[in-house]
Amino acid sequence: MASFEDYLALRGGSGLEAARAVTSEVVLGEIEAAGLRGRGGAGFPTGTKWRTVCDLRSDASPPTVIVNGAEGEPGTFKDHTILLNNPYQVIEGALIAATVVGAEDVIIAVKAAAQDVVRRVRGAVDEVCGGGVAGPLRLSVFEGPAEYLYGEETALLEALHGRPPFPRVTPPYRRGAEDGADETPPALIDNVETLANIPGIVLNGAAWFREYGTQQSPGTIVCTVTGGTQQAGVGEFAMGTPMIEVIETLGGDREGRPIKALMPGVSNAFIPASALQTELTYEAMARVGSGLGSAGFVVIEEGDDIVAATAGASRFLAVESCGQCVPCKRDGLELSALLTKLAANEATTDDVEAIRSLSKTVSAEARCSLASQHEAIVTSMFDLFGSDVAQHVDGTAEPTDRLLIAEIVSLRDGKAAIDVSREAKQPDWTCDGLDSGKTPVERLTSEGD
Ligand SMILES: Cc1cc2nc3c(=O)[nH]c(=O)nc-3n(C[C@H](O)[C@H](O)[C@H](O)COP(=O)(O)O)c2cc1C
Ligand code: SF4
Repeated sequence: MASFEDYLALRGGSGLEAARAVTSEVVLGEIEAAGLRGRGGAGFPTGTKWRTVCDLRSDASPPTVIVNGAEGEPGTFKDHTILLNNPYQVIEGALIAATVVGAEDVIIAVKAAAQDVVRRVRGAVDEVCGGGVAGPLRLSVFEGPAEYLYGEETALLEALHGRPPFPRVTPPYRRGAEDGADETPPALIDNVETLANIPGIVLNGAAWFREYGTQQSPGTIVCTVTGGTQQAGVGEFAMGTPMIEVIETLGGDREGRPIKALMPGVSNAFIPASALQTELTYEAMARVGSGLGSAGFVVIEEGDDIVAATAGASRFLAVESCGQCVPCKRDGLELSALLTKLAANEATTDDVEAIRSLSKTVSAEARCSLASQHEAIVTSMFDLFGSDVAQHVDGTAEPTDRLLIAEIVSLRDGKAAIDVSREAKQPDWTCDGLDSGKTPVERLTSEGD
C-alpha cells in the first residue's frame, strides 16, 4: 500500500467510519463474536481484553491504546512486514480500538533499531493525521530498546515510562511498578497483526471473519518461515492450514530434503517431523505439545544439530532474562553453558542430569513467561530427541558450536538476516564483550539511582 490515498481508494477507513456510526457495545459484540485471538503469542481473546479495559475506564483518566510492534521473537518477521507494507490498516485498527475503549491517545511502539519501520510508520501517522481521519485522537510513535523483553507488555509499559524493560508483577498483586500506580489508567496493548484484523471485522462482520479457521481459532494468521528452506518468507494463511503446506508455500519445494523439526521461535516446544501435518490452530498445536506463538517457524533439517539449536535458544533466553527472578537468570545461564558444552561433546552424564534438573527449576516463581519458554524448549529436546542428546555424550555425534538464535532484522528477496550483534551481547545487557557478573536489573537499577 504505497500511500494513504491508495488505502482510502480501496475502502480503507470504512471500518473506522462504521465503528463511529454505532455504539461501542455494538463493535465490542462483533469482535467478541468474531472470536479474534491476540496474535502477539498468547492467543488471548481480543474482545475479552477490550471489554475489561472498557469496564476499568473512567472519564478522569482515559485509557491509552498501545500497538505492540516490538517483534523480538526469533524466527518471526510478520509484524515488521505488515507495518512496512500496510501501516494504515494497523493504524485504522488502533483508532477503532481507541473509539471503543474511549482512549484519547494511541501509541505505536516499535524498536529504535528498526529505522525502516520507524520511518514508514511515522510517515503513515503524518498522512493519517494530515487527512483528518484521526479526529481528536492523538497518534504518536515510540522508539523502544532492542531487548527481547521490550515486547512483553508490562515491560513495554515500563519502557514507555522511560525505564528499562523489566516486566511488572501483574494483577491481582499490583498494577504498576511504583507506589500509587494502582491509580494509573488502564492501557490496552494489542499486537500489530491483531489490530490489522479489526477493520475487516467491523466492516464485514463476525461471520465473514469466521469463514476461515475453526471455532476456537477463527480467521487467518500471518506466518514466517526461515532456516533450512530454499527461501525465507512471510505469508497469510487460513487458520487450520497444515503446517507442512505453510513451510512448502513460503520456503519452497523441499526437493527430498527431510525436515527434522520446527522451532516455533523461542516460545514453545520443538515440533517434530511426525507432527508436520498438524493444523495451524491454537488447539491443534497445544495437542502436539507445542504452541502457535507468533507463527514463526525455523526449519531444522535432518542432519542439523538439534542440541546446538537448543543451546542457541537457551543462550538467547538466558542473556535476555532481566534477572528480577533469580532462577530465571541464574539457572538459565547455567543451562546455556551446559548445553553449549553438550553440543561440543564435552558434557558428562552428570552434566546432562544437571541440564534436566535446571530445566525444571528455571521457571520457579517467574514473573513473566520467558522462564517457562526456556523450560519448554529444553524439556522438548529431551522428550523428542533423547538419542541426539545421548550421541553428544558418547561422542558418536559431530561436536558443534551452538547456533546463533536471534531476531530477524530484514527479510528481502527470500533471504532473512538475523541480528548477529547478539553473539556479543552479555548477560548484563552490555555489548562490550565483558560481562560484569551483574544482572541487568542490578546493573541498570544501580546506574539509574
Ligand atoms: C518475553 C516476551 C516477549 C514478547 N514479545 C512480544 C512482541 O515482540 N510483540 C508482541 O506483540 N507481543 C509480545 N509478547 C506478548 C505480549 O506480552 C502481549 O501478550 C501481547 O502484546 C498482547 O497483544 P495481543 O493480545 O494482541 O496478542 C511477548 C511476551 C513475552 C513473555
Ligand atoms: S521470568 Fe525472567 S525475564 Fe521474566 S521477569 Fe523474571 S527474570 Fe525477568
